[in-house]
Amino acid sequence: MTMQERTLAGRVVAVTGASKGIGWAVVEALTARGAQVVAGARDVSGLSRPGATFYPLDVTDEASVGAFAEAAVRAGVDALVNNAGVGSFQPVEEITPEEYRRVMDTNVLGTLLVTRALIPHFRARHARGEGSQVVNVTSDVSARTFASGALYTASKYAQRAVTQALAAEGQGYGLRVTEIRPGMVDTFFADSVQGEAHKAAWLRPADVADAVVYALTAPTHARVDEMLLHPVVQEVAF
Ligand SMILES: NC(=O)c1ccc[n+]([C@@H]2O[C@H](COP(=O)([O-])OP(=O)(O)OC[C@H]3O[C@@H](n4cnc5c(N)ncnc54)[C@H](OP(=O)(O)O)[C@@H]3O)[C@@H](O)[C@H]2O)c1
Repeated sequence: MTMQERTLAGRVVAVTGASKGIGWAVVEALTARGAQVVAGARDVSGLSRPGATFYPLDVTDEASVGAFAEAAVRAGVDALVNNAGVGSFQPVEEITPEEYRRVMDTNVLGTLLVTRALIPHFRARHARGEGSQVVNVTSDVSARTFASGALYTASKYAQRAVTQALAAEGQGYGLRVTEIRPGMVDTFFADSVQGEAHKAAWLRPADVADAVVYALTAPTHARVDEMLLHPVVQEVAF
């Protein structure tokens, strides 16, 4: 099956962090293949795309997550892409409790809250003989670290742990879980600007969106546990 042949017609997918960068590319790729997308980010003003409905969503806020999950359940969601995330890079001696909470709350608690809010629905689908999927966009650094990476990689290691535990638990209720681990991607990540010259050879958001499509269109007997992708210019590391 080629990438173009991977249809998502009839599927309903919730995507967090959907306003720009990788999340926006995921919205584009999923809707282009016929999926209905329930898309969330804190600032969704001015966003529109046929096949997608945008909701204000702060993944760190339980009430906001509850409203988003309700909309997703109403739409008949069968898959969740946890993509919302923030970057933060500084040596250990400069990490403040405030920055710790911002990064961990967004990347780890956010993944937990949104996933948790949809599990009763996924269990109900299982009882009707229907499977569900969760795709977590973590990072290539969800299992290795580097100087000035303590806080960000701690959050991504933790997000990987949540992903793997969920995969084990989800076997009991027909949930297939995939971790997508991109290397350097040209987005607005960590307050950067998309399209900057030094990012010319990095992965494009659409490359990561293709990985999401691959996971979501895998045959139902196949579980894509993990995908690790890098731009060829990035040093080989596992
Ligand atoms: N770019 C890279 O090199 C790279 C590499 C590996 C992994 N990743 C991961 O990929 C994911 C997407 O990052 P990106 O590169 O696409 O960054 P980005 O361009 O900055 O986009 C981040 C998205 O997350 C949303 N977001 C941030 N905080 C949120 C919150 N509290 N609640 C809901 N949405 C929130 C943002 O929208 P609002 O600000 O409007 O909420 C935006 O839509 C992240 O998990 C990141 O860790 C990125």
